[in-house]
Amino acid sequence: MIITIDGPAAAGKGTLSQKLASEYGYAYFDTGMVYRAVGLKMLLSNTDLKDIKKAEKEAGELDFATMIELSKNPEFRSSKGGEAASVISSYPGVRERLLDMQKNFSMNPVFADGRPANGVIYDGRDTGTVVCPNAEVKFFITASPEVRAKRRYDEFIAKGMNAKFEDVLRDVKIRDDRDANRKDAPMKPADDAIILDTTNLNIEEVFNEAVKYIESKKK
Ligand code: DC
Repeated sequence: MIITIDGPAAAGKGTLSQKLASEYGYAYFDTGMVYRAVGLKMLLSNTDLKDIKKAEKEAGELDFATMIELSKNPEFRSSKGGEAASVISSYPGVRERLLDMQKNFSMNPVFADGRPANGVIYDGRDTGTVVCPNAEVKFFITASPEVRAKRRYDEFIAKGMNAKFEDVLRDVKIRDDRDANRKDAPMKPADDAIILDTTNLNIEEVFNEAVKYIESKKK
């Protein structure tokens, strides 16, 4: 089974995806990683993020092993890394070059240790609309910008990183705006996606809702 979980930054996609992957024994693909990898390559080589040609070149050369290696860099998950990913993800040529890598995963899903899996959970912005339009189950997870910024802020503090709530909230809003207004691939729910608003739900409640829906689709 293919399950897609899309939605804005810090809506809880990652947590829900990992819980569902462990519940069903499915592989997990966090598609934000492909954009973070290209963004980080640009930052590491001090390339201007406006250099579309260079971003396209990096995207064309990216493979899974390089992406995993780059993900070990502390900047990969930082605000700066997320911002760089958001900027380069707005270039159609970059998205096009990163599409096959994401699509192909569903044909042969594997766990991190290489074992084959018989299902996959995709987490991203366009996985139900562009990457896997044929997925059997699609969710679009959202929450108010304030609640999402608070969750992201708490994560940064828990990791011992320096952060100010106002800065995190501003970044969340900037990213929402850019991700939602990309010309060719705006972040939006697939027509057949179930919308989960997590503003007033904790992770267990969101998980239970999702499982209930998946079980109904399996019948
Ligand atoms: O989910 P994330 O914060 O790791 O994603 C980083 C950026 O990558 C996000 O701001 C937009 C982009 N992205 C995308 O355009 N499409 C996806 N499927 C996943 C992420």
